[in-house]
Amino acid sequence: MMTYAMAAARPGGSDMIRRIEIDVPAAGAGEVVIAHDAIGINFIDIYIRTGAYPWPVDKDLILGSEGAGIITAVGEGVSHVAVGDRVGYTLPNGAYATHRAINADMVVKLPDAITSDVAAAIMLKGLTVAYLVQDSHVVQAGDTVLFHAAAGGVGLLAGQWLKSLGATAIGTAGGPDKCALAAAHGYDHVIDYKSEDVVTRVMEITGNAGVDVAYDSVGKDTFAGTLASVKRHGRIVAFGQSSGPYADFKIADLGAGSLHLTRPTLFHFATSRPWLEAASETLFGLVGDGTLKVNINQRFPLEEAAAAHEALVARQTTGCTILDV
Ligand SMILES: NC(=O)c1ccc[n+]([C@@H]2O[C@H](COP(=O)([O-])OP(=O)(O)OC[C@H]3O[C@@H](n4cnc5c(N)ncnc54)[C@H](OP(=O)(O)O)[C@@H]3O)[C@@H](O)[C@H]2O)c1
Repeated sequence: MMTYAMAAARPGGSDMIRRIEIDVPAAGAGEVVIAHDAIGINFIDIYIRTGAYPWPVDKDLILGSEGAGIITAVGEGVSHVAVGDRVGYTLPNGAYATHRAINADMVVKLPDAITSDVAAAIMLKGLTVAYLVQDSHVVQAGDTVLFHAAAGGVGLLAGQWLKSLGATAIGTAGGPDKCALAAAHGYDHVIDYKSEDVVTRVMEITGNAGVDVAYDSVGKDTFAGTLASVKRHGRIVAFGQSSGPYADFKIADLGAGSLHLTRPTLFHFATSRPWLEAASETLFGLVGDGTLKVNINQRFPLEEAAAAHEALVARQTTGCTILDV
């Protein structure tokens, strides 16, 4: 059996990602060992690989924060899953590997309707949308919502989820093809931010009111427009920085409309077991009943993780990207 992982010795370009041979780990107390079927690719993998986020170890770092597969060993004290169960999880790093040991509290059993490929695509991205629309802002029917990078992995799931909640969703995306894709996935309006001015279009669409809530994961290139697109007393959820960090923010900027701002992180939600179980059940239910269509639009062999990174950074992907083991 080939057992290997894709790791980087230190922050750098995608050429830092190398294959390393690994032994199948043992399951320590409170852990399970998973033989991966599929692994998710996420923008956080880029932030970590490039050093934009802190490098957490002083040895080879196995990248990847989302995966699914079959449990092959169970450590002492683990009772909610057993050998042979199909499970999914999201947890920072360690996923680009044929096998891994993981804290059992982070894994959830997959219902039959959720394939390993789908789980590897949605454990991180779908649970992110769960907290974005249920926790960071409780989206209500009738809310007007701005969501940047609407054709991306998180973006396509968000559009469909927002539609199911009865919100009016305005997406942004780069180029006509991505805009058409977003429009087919729940967004009532899509702004091509390569060719249109976002604030002008948002004000046209909302009759100069602005949106109730804006979700911004692009950062540097979009955040000034986000601030100007939200209505008085509205909310901004800043949850990423795919174009780089926005450096010009001042607290006084919120004074323009008595605005609310939050900067959430999935792992502050997913490390609560009750939250993880409830949000996973909701997510799997929405996928199972067809409310959320999961678009796995790119797949690469695990050994080609670097190529997957290149595609994501070059804005060549839409929807979800997974690695096949
Ligand atoms: N805080 C959290 O808990 C959390 C959790 C999950 C994801 N996120 C964030 O959510 C965002 C989406 O994640 P994802 O994995 O689903 O990625 P993604 O949206 O599939 O890919 C990123 C997209 O961002 C857009 N983009 C704008 N400027 C870019 C630039 N300079 N370089 C690259 N892309 C740029 C591109 O779409 P266009 O071509 O349409 O502009 C690109 O396709 C990321 O910022 C990620 O960090 C945060």
